[in-house]
Amino acid sequence: MKAPVRVAVTGAAGNIGYALLFRIASGEMLGKDQPVILQLLEIDNEKAQAALKGVVMELEDCAFPLLAGVVTTADPLVAFKDVDVALLVGARPRGPGMERKDLLLENAKIFTVQGKALNAVAKRDVKVLVVGNPANTNAYIAMKSAPDLDPKNFTAMLRLDHNRALSQLSAKTGKAVDSFEKFTVWGNHSPTMYPDYRFATTGGASVAELINDQEWNANTFIPTVGKRGAAIIAARGLSSAASAANAAIDHVHDWVLGSNGKWVTMGVPSDGSYGIPEGVVFGFPVITENGKYTIVKDLPIDDFSKKYIDITLGELEEERAGVADLL
Ligand code: NAI
Repeated sequence: MKAPVRVAVTGAAGNIGYALLFRIASGEMLGKDQPVILQLLEIDNEKAQAALKGVVMELEDCAFPLLAGVVTTADPLVAFKDVDVALLVGARPRGPGMERKDLLLENAKIFTVQGKALNAVAKRDVKVLVVGNPANTNAYIAMKSAPDLDPKNFTAMLRLDHNRALSQLSAKTGKAVDSFEKFTVWGNHSPTMYPDYRFATTGGASVAELINDQEWNANTFIPTVGKRGAAIIAARGLSSAASAANAAIDHVHDWVLGSNGKWVTMGVPSDGSYGIPEGVVFGFPVITENGKYTIVKDLPIDDFSKKYIDITLGELEEERAGVADLL
């Protein structure tokens, strides 16, 4: 039996947490032969801690063979102690009358504290996935707050957008959802993201040629993917939770265990590729292997794509400027 891996999850008593923890504990994220110790962080609030205890009781009642231990805490220094993987899900939601700028600043405080705690106590090769919104900027803040860790350890979740787009492409073409390769989503996890099937193939055939409908791309596909989160809130009265948890599982699974040569989308600090300023946490096509990701380079960016990439980058730059004083 392998030695257990320590996985921190923040916001563990929330909606996504409830859809996520059981799948991690059953081995879906890190492999069916990999024991895990869950280190769960919730806010220092009686109701949240009580809810977390209830979730832990349910985890116990599943009798997962791979679950080698559970820690619950309100202290990031305890939650992140020696962790190999950290899923930063908990975040401050937008309250009534709250401006976007206030939301950014409230979250910046949380992710500064958590970045510092990771810097102090996590494993030096910890893999951090930020899910809590605004995910890209929160990941940027955590990364900047952890100067002793490699910036490449910090990523933001765009996998839900990627998976949403694959499902739309499957419905449009009638091809199996797992037949698509070389698809990506560029930019910010927000409605400005740019889902891009120009390079995509299905069974070796070009998806763009198969669809051959630029009007559908611009006026249906891109807005449908971009507004899918809002559509789910409108329908369910709650934001996506099971699909978000599923995307987090996919993201970490592929990062740790490899994407087998396939492109996946991850929000990662830019290395300057495609003119995205270094350090900006941006959705890129990546290939993962041996626990590392590599940005797919030198793809041609046409005028149509540049327009979208500039918009999503502009939004991220604005967010970055909004929190600059705190860093
Ligand atoms: P939720 O409100 O149900 O749960 C969040 C939990 O985080 C709560 O239990 C809360 O007490 C906890 N929390 C808040 N601040 C914390 C802190 N500083 N430390 C530890 N725990 C803290 O929200 P839900 O539905 O689970 O969503 C979580 C986040 O994920 C939200 O920010 C949401 O916008 C984001 N999200 C991101 C997606 C993505 O694709 N990147 C997709 C869907 C949601």
